[in-house]
Amino acid sequence: MSLEIVILAAGQGTRMRSALPKVLHPVAGKPMLAHVIDTARGLSPSRIHVVIGHGADLVRERLQADDLNFVIQEQQLGTGHAVAQAAPFLSADKVLILYGDVPLIEQPTLERLMAQATPEQLALLTVELEDPTGYGRIIREDAGEVQAIVEQKDATAEQRAIREGNTGILAAPRERLLGWLSRLSNSNAQGEYYLTDVIAMAVGDGLRVATAQPQVAMETQGANDRLQLSELERFFQLRVARRLMAQGVTLIDPARFDVRGEVSVGRDVSIDINVILEGQVEIEDDVQIGPNCYIKDSTLRRGAIIKANSHLDGAHVGPDSDVGPFARLRPGSVLERQVHVGNFVELKNAHLQDGVKVGHLTYLGDSEVGARSNIGAGTITCNYDGANKWRTTIGEDVFIGSNNSLVAPVDIGAGATTGAGSTITAEVPAGTLGVGRAKQRVIEGWKRPEKIKKS
Ligand code: UD1
Ligand code: CA
Repeated sequence: MSLEIVILAAGQGTRMRSALPKVLHPVAGKPMLAHVIDTARGLSPSRIHVVIGHGADLVRERLQADDLNFVIQEQQLGTGHAVAQAAPFLSADKVLILYGDVPLIEQPTLERLMAQATPEQLALLTVELEDPTGYGRIIREDAGEVQAIVEQKDATAEQRAIREGNTGILAAPRERLLGWLSRLSNSNAQGEYYLTDVIAMAVGDGLRVATAQPQVAMETQGANDRLQLSELERFFQLRVARRLMAQGVTLIDPARFDVRGEVSVGRDVSIDINVILEGQVEIEDDVQIGPNCYIKDSTLRRGAIIKANSHLDGAHVGPDSDVGPFARLRPGSVLERQVHVGNFVELKNAHLQDGVKVGHLTYLGDSEVGARSNIGAGTITCNYDGANKWRTTIGEDVFIGSNNSLVAPVDIGAGATTGAGSTITAEVPAGTLGVGRAKQRVIEGWKRPEKIKKS
């Protein structure tokens, strides 16, 4: 049976108190709606329809993709009305309804649900709740068959005591669904066209309503305010943390670890507290990451060590190299094997060959550094002349003295040495010593100034 998915995402989300449409608020750095779309894609539907309204232009702009059909719901007249806006575009046998603000729903749960949707059976995802306040209640007859859903505001005291709540997620045969939608009325406590009313209509038409439940209630939890958003975030992060631990990562504290993107990990990786991994991060075997590190779009090869408080973005750290504490690797930082980058070092577009050492307080930008070279403390490449960026090339086995200014473009040949405190403005040929600093003078009989006494 062919499948289409309709995602409802038109609501305002007043309780977010935000200029940003609710469904664009991020969980793990990605809009909630994008999570739902990705999960929907995993089910290989023929088409995904996204019903948008509040902030429609921004939502469409952010999430535009070839496989998405955005449908505008001008006025938010209810969940049934929202699905009806997508009706003219539907052609598959089966339709699954999802919600843009329910981002943690998992594919296996939806697969279990959809397996129960047949031409003669509607499938509804329900959840058993400690406190079902606000949810539609599932009304079952004595034998346990679902009869209807009653919204909180329309429910009697007796019905409100029911703890089986409606998640809103359902799968139904398309033709039947479209018929029921066209028959919805808004004569209820909220004056809305309720999607939930299709349940009683299905039963009236002789269909059975089958139910399934999520593995955990959080899967179907929506985010109506920022507190709930933070709860979804933490739950999501713990889920990622558990998966990584199952793959052989030691997390010192899974509650203080965040992933905002795609992470691949090897075995025996150890990650200390307050580490954030963002974008595409690849971590090979035996890597150690110290506390308070931010690592984005980077690759850490086998045995690399990232020490506390380091900030990496677009970096490649080669095998057995070590970085930090307090290092900043900006895009284009490439460390080959056994490179040492110490504290308060900033690299940008810098290629460091095997065994290079940059121990302290240095900036290398637009630079190539040959194998085994040592860069003294306090050295900077002056790569920018106020208009253009220039390269610094340092050969193999070079020794750059402390506190050098290397004014690019400049080449320093293999085996060359520069004196401490030098400003290097011209080539230092291979094997030579370059010294570019004022010669020391000694002034005899120098008197220090004396303090002037105030009367
Ligand atoms: C809905 C269900 C309720 C269920 C609950 C679960 C109905 C009538 N009620 O109630 O049974 O327990 O969800 O959270 O369906 N939306 C639109 N357009 C609209 C109205 C809503 O796109 O015109 C979207 C909202 O953006 C939201 C979702 O549909 O993502 C649910 O709408 P909401 O108004 O929050 O429904 P509830 O009252 O919570
Ligand atoms: Ca809701």
